[in-house]
Amino acid sequence: MSNHGATAIAIDGPAAAGKTVVGTRLAKKMGYRFLDTGMMYRAATVAALDAGADFNDLDQLTEAAEQIDIEARAGSEGETLILVNGTDITSRLRGHDVDSKVSVISAIPRIREIMVEAQRKLAAGGGIVMVGRDIGTVVLQDAAPKIYLTATLETRAGRRFTEMKDRPGQPPLDEVLETMRWRDDIDSSREASPLRPAEDAVIVETDNLSIDDVVCRISEIARSVKR
Ligand code: DC
Repeated sequence: MSNHGATAIAIDGPAAAGKTVVGTRLAKKMGYRFLDTGMMYRAATVAALDAGADFNDLDQLTEAAEQIDIEARAGSEGETLILVNGTDITSRLRGHDVDSKVSVISAIPRIREIMVEAQRKLAAGGGIVMVGRDIGTVVLQDAAPKIYLTATLETRAGRRFTEMKDRPGQPPLDEVLETMRWRDDIDSSREASPLRPAEDAVIVETDNLSIDDVVCRISEIARSVKR
């Protein structure tokens, strides 16, 4: 399927497990590119919201996603920037409106097909840390190592709440936790590429680890992988 496995690191796991911050730092440390694939599903969600699509109508949602041109670029810190039809919409992608709808979009098989194809193209040539939900199981099945980052729902909701608390309209902690529980359920029970660790993934629980600890741990695992 691909020959980039030698230098592709896959990081999967539930929301707010630390994938983005860890993945960005790890990529910097290793001189790799970084891609946060969740941002691409978020961009498709913004497209559907902007098109006024009915979120109960899968055809309308798919059409909105098919009509946009999504481009992923690296920002100055290596973070993922997303351009839709040439306009940078990154600052809109983490809003609560997107958070509460993105699981519906990412459960649609045709939308996943479009995203997976684009992600594989971006990984061509290797030297990439890619984070998401299905990177080790679907997108880059020959990535090495495959990491599954996780933490309890309470830890993850607390992190997300702290990250967003100065944003206007930010909901209280219990609402953030409930939205996250709901998203976890959809992400892990959907038929199309449900969230689960790949059989050959190393599971890293991050509740009691600092970001630096996690980055070190994964770099060690990456170094020990036989290439
Ligand atoms: O990682 P995140 O919270 O930004 O992801 C947003 C949504 O996209 C989340 O509901 C899971 C989904 N997603 C996915 O299904 N597959 C990926 N590779 C990345 C994200």
